Amino acid sequence: MTVAVLIVAAGKGERAGSVLPKQFAVLGGKALVAHAVDAFASHRAVDEIFVVIAPGQQALLQTAFEGRHVAGVIEGGALRQDSVLAGLSAITADHVLIHDAARPFVPHDVIDRLLQALETDPAAVPALPSVDTLATADSHLGGTIDRSTVFRIQTPQAFHLDAIMSAHQRWSGEIATDDAQMARAAGFEVALVEGSSLLDKLTYPADFTAAQSRFESRMVSRTGMGFDVHRLEAGSPLWLGGVLIPHDKGLAGHSDADVALHAIVDALLGAICAGDIGSHFPPSDPQWKGAESFRFVEYARDLVIAAGGIIDHIDLTLICEAPRIGAYREDIRSRIAELVCVDRRWISVKATTTERLGFTGRGEGIAAQAVATVRS
Ligand code: CTP
Ligand code: MG
Repeated sequence: MTVAVLIVAAGKGERAGSVLPKQFAVLGGKALVAHAVDAFASHRAVDEIFVVIAPGQQALLQTAFEGRHVAGVIEGGALRQDSVLAGLSAITADHVLIHDAARPFVPHDVIDRLLQALETDPAAVPALPSVDTLATADSHLGGTIDRSTVFRIQTPQAFHLDAIMSAHQRWSGEIATDDAQMARAAGFEVALVEGSSLLDKLTYPADFTAAQSRFESRMVSRTGMGFDVHRLEAGSPLWLGGVLIPHDKGLAGHSDADVALHAIVDALLGAICAGDIGSHFPPSDPQWKGAESFRFVEYARDLVIAAGGIIDHIDLTLICEAPRIGAYREDIRSRIAELVCVDRRWISVKATTTERLGFTGRGEGIAAQAVATVRS
């Protein structure tokens, strides 16, 4: 059995009402179409994946793909069925799974059930029973429909290639909302397998909000920690946590030496396992001489976002005898909150001395520790 996947992503997403067609909308740091591609690419039975897009959407697809590769990208048509037929013409495998890009979560067990059904039937679809009472209606309630006879039909839909090809070629031309109805009209038996609520199509704006929270609820929290020390020297400005603090000494270093922000950068990088501040901004590189450290924080924040992460909390501890941090604590919290785009309620700034012991106790330098919690 050879299995191709055809992902249709050539629609306009008009009902979703966003500027970008919904298949390119980003959910959890990844475009919907990329979610769908990854779900199939990671299934052992899938041999190749084809994607159908609308004319002129190559650049959008490249951005959404972030380096992913598929066996082919095909131009679709005005109706979904035109897009499917265009895609089918590129396929040579003997089985095909046709899937809407607007259904980003594809459980592997549904794919397993569909492929198993194809051993005995020419077509198979995932279906879910109707749990609500169903009725006809206009502005007022009409008659109740026996819900035990009604199912919600989802994608991916699985077919023997020759069956679905001939069904498309023989179709009357009416608008069809899926491919299985064409297969049935052409006389093929379509098996029902158990679907999944994860496969629900994202159609209206509210579906995206619900999908986002479902996605976030499956995220894992990871913690990163950072530590940094800089020397105190007379005559330098003292930047701490992105705030200029009046003091008789300032911190020395290659950049503005904001020890607090450096610890936060390392904590953020640690939470996504992306190296440390030195590997991204080498001190040997002249372009970082005198650099404002808030740019490093913005860079680390953007890396977290690009990795699909959400910053939940930052806890910073400054270790120094002087200056006293209390008077600047709220300013530092506000500045960090602004830089990492997190509500300042979830930015903690603490300070401690070392009882006049060690280099911090002698006022030779300031140390900072930070812990960042990131969901991804
Ligand atoms: N689709 C397609 N070609 C079309 C129309 C739709 O490939 N001419 C795809 C969509 O990109 C989507 C799937 O078919 O992945 C299901 O269609 P639907 O949910 O209706 O998406 P859109 O047509 O994009 O949305 P709308 O109807 O709200 O404009
Ligand atoms: Mg549509």
